Amino acid sequence: MRKSLVSVVLATSALATVITLHTLTHNGARAAAPELTPAASVPHRAAYTQDGRLQFPDTYREWVYLSSGLDMSYRDRGMDHSMFDNVFADPTSYREFMRTGTWPDGAQLALETRGATEKGSINKSGKFQNGDMMGVEVHVKDTKRFAGGWAFFAFDGTTPAAQIPTAADCYSCHRDHAVVDTTFVQFYPTLLPVAKLHGTVRADGSP
Ligand code: HEC
Repeated sequence: MRKSLVSVVLATSALATVITLHTLTHNGARAAAPELTPAASVPHRAAYTQDGRLQFPDTYREWVYLSSGLDMSYRDRGMDHSMFDNVFADPTSYREFMRTGTWPDGAQLALETRGATEKGSINKSGKFQNGDMMGVEVHVKDTKRFAGGWAFFAFDGTTPAAQIPTAADCYSCHRDHAVVDTTFVQFYPTLLPVAKLHGTVRADGSP
């Protein structure tokens, strides 16, 4: 009994510390010590610059892997490159999705695109991902921060990215065709059955 009380107190104070650090860095109220950067102190939470740019999510490669698409053509990119896209969700929101069938506030999904190659090493057929990183885009849910609930960001390297204006086709395609809360869960095989179970798939969606 006594032991569990102690651990609750410890956990609570640890949480308070984390929140305080995050608020300080988030508001830019004072420069964070190097070891207290948002990525180090609050892994996987979205962090913004003072002027509202999203910081590059340094840890996204440690998030939960959802799916890869190969040469999916839903965008006019002029398919001169063959490429994979890899989709990841931050771990806290992934667990919440598994529990509820939808995304909590704070959810972040990253889509990374990489060049696809046929020739290399022992490969005889099929394609693998080469090292050419072609970009990272992030979809963030924050109903307090963004009108419409979600915002898109496209990164050029690791420089903080401004929100893509809501008139962009990112928003309309995701709103009109994605089946769970503007995310393309119809293409994420571990999430789709969970969303179906919870009845969170759009009624008019066709997975
Ligand atoms: C014509 C439709 C369409 C448009 C326009 C579009 N997307 Fe998507 N987006 C998709 C599809 C389909 C997927 C699923 C990819 C997969 O399965 O690998 C996706 C997935 C994503 C994801 C992964 C998380 C999620 O929401 O499912 C991100 C991030 C993303 N898109 C960002 C963008 C950004 C940024 C833009 C605008 C620059 C954009 N998209 C424009 C169709 C679209």
